Amino acid sequence: MPSITAKLKAGALASLALVALAQQASGSKPRLNRIDVDLHARDPSLNDNLPLFTDGLLDSLNHRLFPRQSQETQNSIRDQSAVDPLAAAQAADALPNVANNAAGGTDTTGNLLQGDGYSNFAWNQNVPFIPNADTTGSDENGWQELPDTPGFTLNRTFSVHNVFKNESGVMPFYISTVADPTKVLRAIVVWPGKPRDIWKYANLMLNARNVAVTNFNQQGVTNDSFVIIAPAMLNQLDLQAGAARPNEIVFHGSSWQRGAPSRNPPMKHAVTSYAAVDQIIDDLFNRTSYPNLNQIVVAGHSMGGQATQRYALMKKTKVYDNNVRFWIGNPGSWAWLTDARPYSNASCAAGNEYDTWPYGLNGNQTKLTSYARKDVIANKTYVIDRFLNRQVSYALALLDIGAGDTHCQALWQGGNHLDRGSQFVLQYQNASSSYFNGKFPPRHTLDYIANVSHQDYAMYSTNMSLQRLFYDGLMVRNADVANTTNPGDKKNSTRPKGAKAFATPAHEKVAIGLLAGSLGLLFIVFTALPIIFTADHVKDVDMSWDSQSYLSTESRRMLVDRKW
Ligand SMILES: *[C@@H]1O[C@H](CO)[C@@H](O)[C@H](O)[C@H]1NC(C)=O
Ligand SMILES: *[C@@H]1O[C@H](CO)[C@@H](O)[C@H](O)[C@H]1NC(C)=O
Ligand SMILES: *[C@@H]1O[C@H](CO)[C@@H](O)[C@H](O)[C@H]1NC(C)=O
Ligand SMILES: *[C@@H]1O[C@H](CO)[C@@H](O)[C@H](O)[C@H]1NC(C)=O
Ligand SMILES: *[C@@H]1O[C@H](CO)[C@@H](O)[C@H](O)[C@H]1NC(C)=O
Ligand SMILES: *[C@@H]1O[C@H](CO)[C@@H](O)[C@H](O)[C@H]1NC(C)=O
Ligand SMILES: *[C@@H]1O[C@H](CO)[C@@H](O)[C@H](O)[C@H]1NC(C)=O
Ligand SMILES: *[C@@H]1O[C@H](CO)[C@@H](O)[C@H](O)[C@H]1NC(C)=O
Ligand SMILES: *[C@@H]1O[C@H](CO)[C@@H](O)[C@H](O)[C@H]1NC(C)=O
Ligand SMILES: *[C@@H]1O[C@H](CO)[C@@H](O)[C@H](O)[C@H]1NC(C)=O
Ligand SMILES: *[C@@H]1O[C@H](CO)[C@@H](O)[C@H](O)[C@H]1NC(C)=O
Ligand SMILES: *[C@@H]1O[C@H](CO)[C@@H](O)[C@H](O)[C@H]1NC(C)=O
Repeated sequence: MPSITAKLKAGALASLALVALAQQASGSKPRLNRIDVDLHARDPSLNDNLPLFTDGLLDSLNHRLFPRQSQETQNSIRDQSAVDPLAAAQAADALPNVANNAAGGTDTTGNLLQGDGYSNFAWNQNVPFIPNADTTGSDENGWQELPDTPGFTLNRTFSVHNVFKNESGVMPFYISTVADPTKVLRAIVVWPGKPRDIWKYANLMLNARNVAVTNFNQQGVTNDSFVIIAPAMLNQLDLQAGAARPNEIVFHGSSWQRGAPSRNPPMKHAVTSYAAVDQIIDDLFNRTSYPNLNQIVVAGHSMGGQATQRYALMKKTKVYDNNVRFWIGNPGSWAWLTDARPYSNASCAAGNEYDTWPYGLNGNQTKLTSYARKDVIANKTYVIDRFLNRQVSYALALLDIGAGDTHCQALWQGGNHLDRGSQFVLQYQNASSSYFNGKFPPRHTLDYIANVSHQDYAMYSTNMSLQRLFYDGLMVRNADVANTTNPGDKKNSTRPKGAKAFATPAHEKVAIGLLAGSLGLLFIVFTALPIIFTADHVKDVDMSWDSQSYLSTESRRMLVDRKW
């Protein structure tokens, strides 16, 4: 087996080198180290070189059978997750108090980092931990300002626009200071957690970078090899309290995690959180800023992990698609890939509510994020296949049995973080599903983390996460994707321009009558919404223009709601 692996590696590296040579020859900008792609790296990320939509070339190599011995200890599950993710997921779910246990756990004695966990592991004590910045306001009552945080610049001038590119708002983001942009090899885009304290997550990723560069150096990296970008996902409370300015994008509650449309500044057609992050990533890949950037990692823990997984599933196909990686840490719930679930609960069985976005791709599909609703409806198989072929890392803490998302939809997935994460992985075990064929996707990785609970910094800075966040595929720049058509992209119209759907006067009258009625109803519904739905309720209605897409373009034009 080692010889097969070596041959595959050699083949992959040879073709990478060819790509690199071609790029070198055609590009006007010099590129760093591109030729000796990873020859010395510990993890050359062979999978990086696989084209999209390939089958599991490496499965037989990666997933050799592990003996079914007693694997109760955390360390054995951790080690097993590297070689046999499905068996590791089974073992993790069989740990005491995991399967279907929503009672939580309060025993933190097994945590290596005690207290709030904002310190370095024992073996990283030589690296000073930079404390999180203080600010005024709160998660519950709204943040009053975005504080300065050492090592970062707060950028409040980047406008993100809607799909028509005729309205926009400013997306504030923190960006780490880089002395020499030509040295940047990788960008890490980090989502906040539920409290929206993005400055903290920027700082935690910076601390993790310092540990990676100082104690786990590969390829001679320096601070400048990495740029960290942390977009602020603020909400209406922060707008009231002052952290968000009137021209800045805010979302409702935590709805940024599921790609909901912005609520401010007022727009006819809002910008979704996923479209906003897309524009940040598009900009980063623009070679004029970082000529030697290879790959971008999108990372998030907890609510940020939810955002990362759902974004990884829905993200539009772009030319740089094969150079994006996703790191998903301890999400509270998941967007499941199929309609099967490990558990059930009568509370959200009706209308397949358990499988409705953001928990799945089925159920009531008008609730899908408007960012990608048309793609899912046009070809769900494409969307799922694309996710399976993306570079996705799952990181799950073996002591994280906190309940997390307590909605009934989440209870269909599991009782707690560890249960849901393990069950999500166990989906792949289904041999009768044509999506999975019983195999863990070859471009995905699973890392169980021992002696850590729901702790963001411990998750970022644990050894295996440092490898995923900073080093996997560091020197690899994969070829561009040729076909960037998404299944829901607007087809070229066959109807001659100018012809209206409602051309006759009689139809117009009926149409106007219907629209007036609908607008009245919409007004009533939207007026009642803030009363019906509390800020953090995931079921708050995701009503953007796109939800009317089944109407004629003419009526859609008039039906746009002005509030969202
Ligand atoms: C890891 O956690 C387990 C379970 O809580 C505990 O028994 C063990 O002592 C912990 N190990 C360390 C090194 O803290
Ligand atoms: C903010 O970011 C945008 C996009 O990268 C950039 O064009 C702009 O120069 C930045 N502004 C400042 C003040 O750095
Ligand atoms: C933006 O363009 C869309 C589609 O053409 C249109 O419906 C909408 O009214 C425009 N918005 C503004 C503010 O002009
Ligand atoms: C890297 O940045 C950290 C601050 O984030 C700093 O403490 C450290 O000295 C820097 N390393 C070098 C080599 O400049
Ligand atoms: C890259 O940035 C330059 C300068 O801001 C801009 O002119 C160009 O259109 C951008 N390219 C892409 C592909 O966004
Ligand atoms: C589906 O969701 C939409 C938007 O939330 C709602 O208006 C509609 O009534 C729902 N349909 C069903 C069958 O529940
Ligand atoms: C949907 O996408 C898959 C690729 O993932 C493709 O094989 C299939 O032909 C597509 N179906 C349709 C109806 O376009
Ligand atoms: C079903 O879900 C509800 C939350 O919606 C929860 O209160 C209830 O305990 C769950 N029932 C079971 C049997 O887990
Ligand atoms: C496995 O996949 C098949 C086909 O999609 C599906 O019908 C079945 O419910 C799945 N089984 C499980 C246990 O998820
Ligand atoms: C992480 O790596 C360091 C350095 O190799 C080692 O001392 C430490 O034991 C590792 N920690 C774990 C939990 O494996
Ligand atoms: C590009 O992909 C789309 C699906 O997203 C597909 O419908 C189309 O046929 C593809 N085009 C080519 C030239 O392969
Ligand atoms: C629309 O048609 C034009 C001309 O036929 C073509 O150049 C263009 O690529 C088509 N766009 C899409 C999205 O298919």
